[in-house]
Amino acid sequence: MTAQRACGVDDVAVSAAVKVELDGIAVAIVKQSDGTIHAIGDTCTHGEISLSEGFVEDDTIECWAHGSQFALRTGKPLNLPAYEPVPVFPVTIDGDDVLVDVANPLTQNS
Ligand code: FES
Repeated sequence: MTAQRACGVDDVAVSAAVKVELDGIAVAIVKQSDGTIHAIGDTCTHGEISLSEGFVEDDTIECWAHGSQFALRTGKPLNLPAYEPVPVFPVTIDGDDVLVDVANPLTQNS
């Protein structure tokens, strides 16, 4: 695992998202309401829209442009117009740091 520091645990507010770039990949770090932190590809698969500018609700993030919601655990879109998943990356919490492994996504865009 080649996890690297994405941000601090306290940098991410509940039900909000922080955009970071790791190895040239835009990643949204998201803390859902139960405190679980996820890392997903930041770019909506329907358009060049940053998902971290969208809305976090429970375990989903919604693209503000056309309303597609993506599951934070799987990256799968739950409604149209997006139909392809965004990648989901492994997250490790190391003390106060959020570590993300962008080299080994849990899901692929294919
Ligand atoms: S750009 Fe995200 S749903 Fe259209």
